[in-house]
Amino acid sequence: MTAVSSRDDTLRRRAEAVLSRHTPTEVVRLPHARLQLFAKLESANVTGSAKDRSAIWILGDAVRTGAIRAGTTVVESSSGNFALSLATYCHELRLDFVPVIDPNINDMTERTLRRMCRRVEKVTERDPTGGFLLSRLARVGELVREIEDAYWTDQYSNPAGARGHYELTGTEIVAQLERIDYLFVGVGTGATINGLSRRVKEANPDVVVVAVDVAGSAIFGAEPHRRLIPGIGSSIRPPLVEDAVISEIVTVSELEEVAGCRRLVRDHGVYAGGSTGAVYSAIECYFEGFSGPPPVVAFLCMDRGDPYSMTVYDDAWVAANFAPSLVTTTGQW
Ligand SMILES: Cc1ncc(COP(=O)(O)O)c(C=O)c1O
Repeated sequence: MTAVSSRDDTLRRRAEAVLSRHTPTEVVRLPHARLQLFAKLESANVTGSAKDRSAIWILGDAVRTGAIRAGTTVVESSSGNFALSLATYCHELRLDFVPVIDPNINDMTERTLRRMCRRVEKVTERDPTGGFLLSRLARVGELVREIEDAYWTDQYSNPAGARGHYELTGTEIVAQLERIDYLFVGVGTGATINGLSRRVKEANPDVVVVAVDVAGSAIFGAEPHRRLIPGIGSSIRPPLVEDAVISEIVTVSELEEVAGCRRLVRDHGVYAGGSTGAVYSAIECYFEGFSGPPPVVAFLCMDRGDPYSMTVYDDAWVAANFAPSLVTTTGQW
């Protein structure tokens, strides 16, 4: 009994160390003719994405409450970034982590996970919505029953995931930007928009929070269909979206997501992942033809472009999946 307690104490100290070491990400101004445009570089988090915020808070919370103890195996369904965050922090906490992934995961992310985790579960069957989420969740359920002392972090409804964005991302951005008129946020599990919108609205109730979703996602009630780019969108409506303070919703197609990524590099030298391209596209579309004093518009750069080099940034992949007429060797489309 004593041995178990001291291992749990060590685990608690490690979890506290992870949080105390966590540092704010930078906000940069991007030149724009009609807007005061600011990007918060969440890609600068330790594992390269905003999902570190949720992972750190969820793990810390579960260790504090005793839901995770030394010897617990963490299990989660993720299309990539959250799995990378959990793999990294579980490694540091000396916990086993079993990610449940699907074929939409980027090659680079899958290779990293396979190096970091003893066991990786990859589902291959599409669920009735045409996506993989329900298949992944079903596999998580089996693993939780099969593995003794397993803990499912449940990023789709765990309030601690949103709390991480409230306490960390949100507190940072309200300190970094004196004023925000519009905040654009891509939505997947809803953890980011939940925490961020509540914190930013608390500081300034007039902020317009624009949720960005992708066509084929069921988050805001549309009929789900097959999607290829991981990050935003979901084949369910995640419970965390319910408590988010959302003023408006903009939906973009996956091709607009790709085009947004490429314009963001071309116009601002920001090499970002698919969801950030979707948000940039949404901002451009929302403010098309806008005149008047430039409003302050903020968004998050959720992850870097590197893991998408063989998909979003690959002309042949884009042409093969979206529009054959776009095949080009120049990247000028
Ligand atoms: C790159 C990227 N963008 C956006 C999101 C959506 O964030 P959230 O799940 O907090 O809604 C995710 C979630 O995994 C992501 O990985």
